[in-house]
Amino acid sequence: MTSSEGTHLDPNDWDDFSDEMHKLMDQCLARMKSAKDLPWQPKPKDLADRLSLDHEAVGSGPQQTFAQLTEDVMPYATGNTHPRFYGWVHGAGLPVCVGAEMVAATMNSNCGGRDHGAIEVERATLDWLLGVSGMPESASAILTTGTSQATILALSAARNKQFGHDVRKTGIQGLPSVAVYARAGTHSCIGKALEAMGHGSDSIHIVDTDDDMRMDIASLKRAVDADRAIGRVPLAVIGTAGSVNTGSYDDLNAIADFCAEQGIWLHVDAAFGFWARLADAPWAALVDGMERANSIACDFHKWMSVPYDCGACMIYDRTLHFDTFTSRPNYLEQQEEGLGGGDLWFCDYGLELSRGFRALKVWTAIKSIGTEAFAASITDNCKQAALMAELVDASDVLELSFAVSSNVCCFYVAHGDVNKIAAELQLSGDAVFSTTVIKGQACLRAALVNHRTTSEDIRQSIRAVEAAVRRYG
Ligand SMILES: Cc1ncc(COP(=O)(O)O)c(C=O)c1O
Repeated sequence: MTSSEGTHLDPNDWDDFSDEMHKLMDQCLARMKSAKDLPWQPKPKDLADRLSLDHEAVGSGPQQTFAQLTEDVMPYATGNTHPRFYGWVHGAGLPVCVGAEMVAATMNSNCGGRDHGAIEVERATLDWLLGVSGMPESASAILTTGTSQATILALSAARNKQFGHDVRKTGIQGLPSVAVYARAGTHSCIGKALEAMGHGSDSIHIVDTDDDMRMDIASLKRAVDADRAIGRVPLAVIGTAGSVNTGSYDDLNAIADFCAEQGIWLHVDAAFGFWARLADAPWAALVDGMERANSIACDFHKWMSVPYDCGACMIYDRTLHFDTFTSRPNYLEQQEEGLGGGDLWFCDYGLELSRGFRALKVWTAIKSIGTEAFAASITDNCKQAALMAELVDASDVLELSFAVSSNVCCFYVAHGDVNKIAAELQLSGDAVFSTTVIKGQACLRAALVNHRTTSEDIRQSIRAVEAAVRRYG
């Protein structure tokens, strides 16, 4: 292939390229259409070799490369597009977002800042999100890779609020030791955020839970009093809206009352649980009080099914949010007009300067599908978790690990090792459960966030689990 200056990287023949693109898009859509027939499958042993970018293999042109995307890449996905995938907390993806991703790649916008249309798409998306959150008008938000990254942004804002913006220059040396209050079962992203921020995960003070697996406010008060007595500064209380292991929700109003009284930042980890707000009663009430938080982290790539990756960080005070992150060297100085203008530069609200057009897939999903359909799907998942719990309860070889309150169902098995059973069900293509430990005992775990799942999938999966367990009996 020969090329000249300015043409080295684009297609040589646009007509051929267009044909190849159409074929590829047909393959993508065919795959999405048949998601129900395509459970997870193990990758071939020689896949790494097949995908190697050694000297011989590179520069083979779009025809060969796209063929390899279809044959060697697409079939070996995580499997979360399938309706009986319940493992971890994996969203199932949306066909309309294939279109959005294509447009985003075509535009190749940098959403760190400047004055262009993609910024308006993100602004509209975040306005919608903040509307769902119920946070005050003064709040602001930014899209992130996910809740883990959003947590770092949120706790950084909490730190600036506590110690002043000079901490950006002076760092944490010289600060007193801090404490972040979280209940057992809080997601590991909180510890990781504190590690990245230099406070260390030892700054987490684990607070007891009550009988409903919610943060116990009396224990929280004891923990805060004890820390203050030794000069430890409370940095934030973490309210969990949808715990990863049990799907339980803290009483956010009770925590918000406590935080208001004590002047402590309330951060809500609502990675998937945020979206209960869209569900019917009784599930919508699980997040009552979330709007009173100082910060919220949530994901679009979980219960909203937007393809990976996309999360969001919301902070109650736009000025504080801006002052925590803004940094504009000369070459990024704000201009009055032209591309260097614009009133909203997302680099002022987070850690990244260069940012992709993540907003487009979210905007497209909401614009095209509408809030009501998402609400119906989220409500269905909660009903399906209740159905799974009923089937487990009725089984002579399965036992519920806790009473299901939202979309997570965990259960113990009478015979066999849950990790082996989970692997067998994955390998047979029956269903993808993950595993965890509840009350010291290993169990199978299902997090229902999949808009393709039906009640029949739930029945079929529990039958498959029972058959697997009986084989060990
Ligand atoms: C409750 C909770 N918090 C945080 C996270 C981390 O989110 P992400 O994977 O988007 O970083 C998860 C992921 O499952 C979660 O369930």
